[in-house]
Amino acid sequence: MLFDFTYHNPTTIHFGKESLNHLKGELLNYGETVLLVYGKTAIKKNGIYDNVIAILKDAGKKVVELSGVMPNPTYRKMQEGCELVRANDVDLILAVGGGSVIDCAKGISVSAYCDEDPFKKYWLESQAVSNKTVPVASILTMVGTGSEMNGGSVITHEETKIKAGRVFPADVYPKFSILNPEYTYTVSQYQMLSGIFDTMSHLMEQYFTGDDANTTDYLIEALLRSSIDNARAALKDPEDYEARSNIMWNATLALNTMTGLSKTQDWQVHMIEHQLGAYTDCAHGMGLAAISLPYYRHVSPHGIDKFARFAVDVWQIAADGKSKEELAKEGIDALEAFCKECGIVTSLKALGATEDMLPKIAESTFILDGGYKKLTSEEILEILKECF
Ligand code: NZQ
Ligand code: ZN
Repeated sequence: MLFDFTYHNPTTIHFGKESLNHLKGELLNYGETVLLVYGKTAIKKNGIYDNVIAILKDAGKKVVELSGVMPNPTYRKMQEGCELVRANDVDLILAVGGGSVIDCAKGISVSAYCDEDPFKKYWLESQAVSNKTVPVASILTMVGTGSEMNGGSVITHEETKIKAGRVFPADVYPKFSILNPEYTYTVSQYQMLSGIFDTMSHLMEQYFTGDDANTTDYLIEALLRSSIDNARAALKDPEDYEARSNIMWNATLALNTMTGLSKTQDWQVHMIEHQLGAYTDCAHGMGLAAISLPYYRHVSPHGIDKFARFAVDVWQIAADGKSKEELAKEGIDALEAFCKECGIVTSLKALGATEDMLPKIAESTFILDGGYKKLTSEEILEILKECF
């Protein structure tokens, strides 16, 4: 059954090879000063930086820059951006990069004019935003998180080792996002796969809940199938435009709130990965892959109908006479085989974890109850040991 819902997504998407042409027109809606937020080296190497700067200059903007935003962006880096916003009275924060850069931009937006400790107020306590915010927009260069069309912002507090995610309301979503699949051609295979598994994980976090077959579940199955097929195509040819554009749009649709409508949601795999990331700084999607396999084996007996359906409808496994338990196992085995086939990392050791980190990760993980089974810290530790 579909629960009652209100759906609104305020982000304008400009998609395709010519999508940067929309930037100048969009910029005319904002004041003079733009804070350009970006990562370490990628956009300078592939020419995106020069193209964006030329358009900003042409639109008569004064540009202030925050560079060096790292994967798993830190609270300290975000604070640097906040100082720039206050010192320059910034009118628009333009993020050019992947999820880390866009998340950092949203964090700056809500924190620059916050008089309290913003990490405590907004990330740990999830309080409503009560201060002035600065509009955010994005140009996406690395695909997976969906941050380009949602209110999510994940920030790592490096001193306390807490990586905390927060979904902010519509006001903080990017006002517009520019999505050119060609910008992702220079993303390494490792990061591309991390992003693809991140997309798949967002879909699975929203799929493996409840037991009703509503339209949202059918949408998720279609997006999972498209992610699998297009991952294979992009691995063969990284400049396959069709594959790269499908991968890009799948990621946006997987976490723009559409595929979570009218359902309970899980997100326990993400909670575990966030703490894994706080300790190891691993690529987000790779951490999710490692945790997902033992996690789903652990919870599948409690949601057996959905796991059996996953095998048949996502992986096209023939049902003929098999029990739901057999099908559920084959579905998770197929997910594991796909990871191996593509080169997606499924061991925590390979992601930089050491054995002594595991209890700390388990103890500091937020425990949620939207999935098929609410875990204990001991069960989380077991899962971490299984994928170590
Ligand atoms: O630093 P640069 O030089 O820019 O290199 C980046 C970075 O090293 C590189 N890259 C980006 N665009 C590129 C490129 N390299 C070559 N060519 C390009 N065109 O890619 C590396 C990874 O970038 P990053 O932004 O860290 O990756 P991703 O998009 O996976 O973002 C991960 C972060 O997003 C959070 C994760 O927890 C993690 O902190 N998430 C955000 C969510 C949200 N806002 O809704 C939800 C997700 O579940 C996730 O938690
Ligand atoms: Zn994710």
